[in-house]
Amino acid sequence: MLVPTCRGIGRDTNVAPTDLDSPVTPGEASHRSGKHKGWQGMADTQQPIILRVNGAEHRLAVEGTRSLLSVLREELGLTGAKYGCGRGECGACTVLVDGEAVRSCGYAVSRAVGRAVTTIEGLAPTGKLHAVQEAFLEAQAFQCGYCTPGVVMGTVALLGRRAHPTELEIREALSGHLCRCGSYPRIIRAVRLAADRLREVRASVESRGPRE
Ligand code: FES
Ligand code: FES
Repeated sequence: MLVPTCRGIGRDTNVAPTDLDSPVTPGEASHRSGKHKGWQGMADTQQPIILRVNGAEHRLAVEGTRSLLSVLREELGLTGAKYGCGRGECGACTVLVDGEAVRSCGYAVSRAVGRAVTTIEGLAPTGKLHAVQEAFLEAQAFQCGYCTPGVVMGTVALLGRRAHPTELEIREALSGHLCRCGSYPRIIRAVRLAADRLREVRASVESRGPRE
């Protein structure tokens, strides 16, 4: 039996309290109960929304108050982001919106309209793993892997804004990502490894100079 082994890497800073504290909406309740009816469930006045996910646009008949996580998983079949606590406390559902890590369980899908959503599936569109994914494999930074997609996305966001983060910055950035398997030391090792790799790639590209 898996038991919580610690309270996470650090403090959670990515949660939008207003979303998370709001009560479950009728649309969300119907989703959770498995009774969501897609197009048939739309009110006459409801407008479809256009969602851009991993570079592709999707026209969806969903209530704007539904969570981004449920739409990604149930409407688009992108099940990489996981449902853990459903309250913004575990990080398993983390995806990127315009490059920033967000907890998709508490993020209304309407907020993602007009923005670029990236899920873990979008990191390796050609099948070649992203440097962060490679580093997590190499450092064996997981056991069951349930938290891993969220931690990887949090790491991608961190390394997008900090090429050489300190250990404290890594801990702060990944705060709120709970790993029941207690892989935290290896996760930190993986993040450092990924940062090194990405810096090498950037240096190599820069040394080649601009293309003619
Ligand atoms: S499922 Fe979203 S933070 Fe836990
Ligand atoms: S919860 Fe199992 S690897 Fe993190």
